[in-house]
Amino acid sequence: MAWLLAESFAELMLLPSRYVSVLGYLVKQYLFEKMELLPNTATLIAFYKRRKEEGKEEEEERLEEVEEEDEVELLAGTVEVCFNKKGVVASPPTPTPPKNSPYVSNIVVKKLLRRFRGIEWHLLKASEELILHMSSSREGYLHCRMIDTAPFNMYKKSGYDIVKIDTILVLLLLQRRKHLICKKLPVLTNFSELDTFCSQEELTP
Ligand SMILES: CC(C)(COP(=O)(O)OP(=O)(O)OC[C@H]1O[C@@H](n2cnc3c(N)ncnc32)[C@H](O)[C@@H]1OP(=O)(O)O)[C@@H](O)C(=O)NCCC(=O)NCCS
Repeated sequence: MAWLLAESFAELMLLPSRYVSVLGYLVKQYLFEKMELLPNTATLIAFYKRRKEEGKEEEEERLEEVEEEDEVELLAGTVEVCFNKKGVVASPPTPTPPKNSPYVSNIVVKKLLRRFRGIEWHLLKASEELILHMSSSREGYLHCRMIDTAPFNMYKKSGYDIVKIDTILVLLLLQRRKHLICKKLPVLTNFSELDTFCSQEELTP
């Protein structure tokens, strides 16, 4: 998983692939630090298992670089969720979210599996569901770079609204400007409502 995150950071920072192993080492340290903060934070992992019957051709094409096996199971993506300020390792980037509110970060999907099975969307839904279980707060925050318009539109469709936008001054720090976005999560009185909330949203990814 550290490798998946490191590859994605290198991609976002436009770094050459030779930096991935150094980044991987740093990400590993970070993940060890995060483990000490459980249960104030969680890292979710998505696995992709090849379905033998359905859409075989499309899958064969995608997975041709993966070794020929009857069953393929891949680490497909990951996301981090902090439920409160005790779950935060380092201060989140600007614009800063409210200190004690649930915060979703580092959503990454393996390159090979992007735009394929809505894996980011599923990771996001799983994060929201977990927030409803683990936090009394009923909102979730996340950052999205202004240049990432496609994921941003998906967040908007999923119910996220812009709360703050980075000032142009962050460009002086050689950073991309980001939106801080927030979604009001439903107040649930029992767990069966949670199932209804999730299945209703599946209609509008
Ligand atoms: C951004 C990222 C997580 C998307 O993962 P993904 O599994 O491909 O996303 P999904 O398939 O769940 O996308 C859901 C919807 O979001 C939109 N979307 C997401 N990525 C898109 C892209 N690159 N181009 C166009 N639309 C996109 C589409 O509407 C898509 O639905 P559709 O495929 O039915 O049209 C992935 O590209 C990634 O890991 N990028 C590098 C890390 C990163 O940028 N993370 C931060 C995101 S703010």
